[in-house]
Amino acid sequence: MTNAQDFSPSVLATRFPSGFQWGVATSSFQIEGAANEDGKGESIWDRFCARPGAIADSGNGDIACDHYHRLDSDLDLIASLGLDIYRFSISWPRVQPQGHGAWNERGLDFYERLVDGLLKRDVQACLTLNHWDLPQALQEKGGWNKRDTVHHFVEYAQTINRRFGSRLKMLTTHNEPWVIAHLGHEWGTFAPGIRSRQICMQVTHHLLLSHGLAVQAMRADGGCKNLGIVLNLGHVEPASDSPEDIKAADHGCAWGRRWYLDSLFKGQYPKEVIEELGAEAPTILDGDLKAISSPIDHLGVNYYTRSVFRASSPFDVKTSGLPLTDMGWEIYPRGLTELLCWLDREYKAPALWITENGVAFDDPVQDERVHDSRRVAYLKDHVAAVAAALERNVPVAGYMVWSLMDNFEWASGYSKRFGIVHVDYTTLKRTLKDSALWVRDLMQAVTSMRQKPMLVRSAGQGD
Ligand code: FCB
Repeated sequence: MTNAQDFSPSVLATRFPSGFQWGVATSSFQIEGAANEDGKGESIWDRFCARPGAIADSGNGDIACDHYHRLDSDLDLIASLGLDIYRFSISWPRVQPQGHGAWNERGLDFYERLVDGLLKRDVQACLTLNHWDLPQALQEKGGWNKRDTVHHFVEYAQTINRRFGSRLKMLTTHNEPWVIAHLGHEWGTFAPGIRSRQICMQVTHHLLLSHGLAVQAMRADGGCKNLGIVLNLGHVEPASDSPEDIKAADHGCAWGRRWYLDSLFKGQYPKEVIEELGAEAPTILDGDLKAISSPIDHLGVNYYTRSVFRASSPFDVKTSGLPLTDMGWEIYPRGLTELLCWLDREYKAPALWITENGVAFDDPVQDERVHDSRRVAYLKDHVAAVAAALERNVPVAGYMVWSLMDNFEWASGYSKRFGIVHVDYTTLKRTLKDSALWVRDLMQAVTSMRQKPMLVRSAGQGD
């Protein structure tokens, strides 16, 4: 018997099947630095950071965590935590500076060393092709708004898969297309800083299409056997039982979740969104939705918080009295269980992976320690929320913490710290926070528990 309220590593570990995978996640632009080295091309985030006022602390990715130069010691750090898997992304402009044409061998070599370095340390690699840092050269030609970019992405995906695929545990096309489209192209708060709903929606379509076509092409080539996409999925709920609030939540769900999930798993966009868009609806060619809904092996879920919808104001999470993170996001672990159950019910999704979950809190280094007790509590509660979904027969295959280390948090710059490892941005010194020590303890408990059989879905389960 396990005690559902006891979230100590040794008890939590017993609630997971032995094959469940544990990891940490990062992305290229947020940690690598070396922005102009070894032939790397400019990315849209390099360009965006140079815009006055775009980044809260005027930070940029020139040095970031200097991971490019500290690869070996950072890989040692990951291995020292006892984790199964590491999720990272490739900087497209580092390996193909113009986004098409010539490849940069020195850039590819960095990822060779990364992938082999992981395997040497007995850590599996989960590679993301696009974690937002599109080559600026492609942006000059219209970026994701142009269908040509779709075809360039497919070629990029094929090249990476042919070269690295057989050494990867998972290969993911895009990270959070909603964020790229809406923050980058409708509100303009993220790169490339465009403000147009029409462009935004065309971008969503091209991102999804490039995902589907890339999956088809990579599948035909062989290489990695576990292909998928990562979406940002919060838990959605109405502020009350009133029909108006319920309608507002359905509306939010259609735009933020079903636009992606219905097209990926049902081959259609929600009708009500297309109707609402009218003339701003994207151009969709015959066969596009069929390509988008090509079968995938995993769906990555990035979960941080919930969104509460009210008819009166479309988005307001701050009035519930629940604790907020440094991002102003409500802490709501139960939403993760609800979300996973909903995904399983609605989409019969393939294996679900929590590809990101974590929290921004700023805690100081004191005597070589960082007592980030709020992060430890957040992680415990969310890991327990995943266990609760497993106990309801939802096929969750893995969980990755965002993030390995403090890093460049996009428009917030370096002011928001998500790492389980602290980074001193003056010296670049890494210090394990208490949350990293908790992860290490959890992994020790997991290692000694690895006997329970993996959850296998049988017909009719999870209905
Ligand atoms: C996600 C991003 C990731 C990180 C976290 C906090 O939306 O995928 O890069 O910034 O949020």
